[in-house]
Amino acid sequence: MVDLEKIIALAKRRGFIFPSSEIYGGLAGFYDWGPLGQELKFNIKQLWWQKIVKEREEVVGISTSIILNSKVWAASGHLSGFSDALVECPFCHKRFKAEELKKKDNDFICLECQRTFQTEVRNFNLMFKTYVGAVEDLATVAYLRPETAGGIFINFKNVLQTTRLKIPFGIAQIGRAFRNEINPRDFVFRTREFEQMELEYFVKPEQADDFFNYWVEQREKWYHFLGLKKIQLNEQKPEERAHYSRRTIDIEYEFPFGFGEIEGIANRGDFDLKAHQEFSGKDLGYFDEDKKETYLPYVIEPSAGVERIALAVLCEAYAEEGERVILKLPPKLAPYKVAVFPLLANKEPLIKLARSVFNDLKKEFMVVWDERGNIGKRYYAQDEIGTPFCVTIDFESLEKNDVTVRFRDSMKQVRVKIKVLKDYLKQEIEKD
Ligand code: GAP
Repeated sequence: MVDLEKIIALAKRRGFIFPSSEIYGGLAGFYDWGPLGQELKFNIKQLWWQKIVKEREEVVGISTSIILNSKVWAASGHLSGFSDALVECPFCHKRFKAEELKKKDNDFICLECQRTFQTEVRNFNLMFKTYVGAVEDLATVAYLRPETAGGIFINFKNVLQTTRLKIPFGIAQIGRAFRNEINPRDFVFRTREFEQMELEYFVKPEQADDFFNYWVEQREKWYHFLGLKKIQLNEQKPEERAHYSRRTIDIEYEFPFGFGEIEGIANRGDFDLKAHQEFSGKDLGYFDEDKKETYLPYVIEPSAGVERIALAVLCEAYAEEGERVILKLPPKLAPYKVAVFPLLANKEPLIKLARSVFNDLKKEFMVVWDERGNIGKRYYAQDEIGTPFCVTIDFESLEKNDVTVRFRDSMKQVRVKIKVLKDYLKQEIEKD
């Protein structure tokens, strides 16, 4: 099992993930994604969108605002129910979720200073509060969305009226969500700002169980497709479920700190449409032409977190072989697909040919250029960020119009003609 500290160090050293606001001492629970991390997250989101929206006729995507009318969160139950039980250690003043602490007799044991104490348990709402407009009073209070789903439910009718969707159908969204977590922890696993990829899939109530099973299966397959092996399913007990859920199965990954949820699939029933219908006074019923009746559909919701998946991908890919640190990322997830090296940095004909290869490949893939130091070091530097293929242009290339392609995992090297190089690499990348 890889040590999380090694992942954190690599992420910082090579530009995947930086602590947010670092030059000002950081801000707990917030991270910035560097050039490579941004590419990794982008690839994950694209592969999700590809499977959930692009390849499906019955799913459309939307993008809703982060701040919504506060009545949305009153209706969804987040204003009253989206809270954690909070306790504060009276000695070191560190705050914890009550469920995180062990107890001795009736006393909590502080995770920080290990002392035991009794205290009242307070409810702490996890939504970030802000104000809209110039006046800070009750009427202008607003919240940063704690899940992207809210924006989907309130647009249910808009989407229905502007598309030809018929049940079963889905509305998908990728976007930021915010939770004022009491105890952000485990690097980017539990943060206060993160991205969700959510699908609300509307079905006939009597088909909800079948579609729930269908989506659990689909989503588990997707994680295998991403190359994640240490995956397990975990059905939530009734007392663990969110207030809107009739049934939830979590997809968990075995991180260095233990199994943790990367996605939850919930049967939300008609909880949300019913609540928004009640609170808004607007009819949100769906007229089923087959059944000739109007009803509130049930919703199956696969909801995944981009950063948790990215962290799982990094943990799965990390390997050390002798002196090499390698990220064995599947090519489809690798930030750069190809690195291009001129053998020497001071030989004009080499640079010229290498530049033309680089410019040509760049139209097709994310490609990086490196001309510093010796070739061995350049290979190692690319191994560490997961670049699956390195292309070297040497003196033979000038005569024979071919290059060396070096494979990251096997270190195998083959000569490939420049005129077929792009197709060759494309084929290799698509094998994945
Ligand atoms: N709409 C349903 C919903 O929000 P959730 O289980 O609370 O369900 C869904 O969140 C996913 O969002 C989780 O599986 C996780 O991947 C991600 N997530 C939730 N809270 C997070 C946090 N504090 N930091 C990072 N990711 C988080």
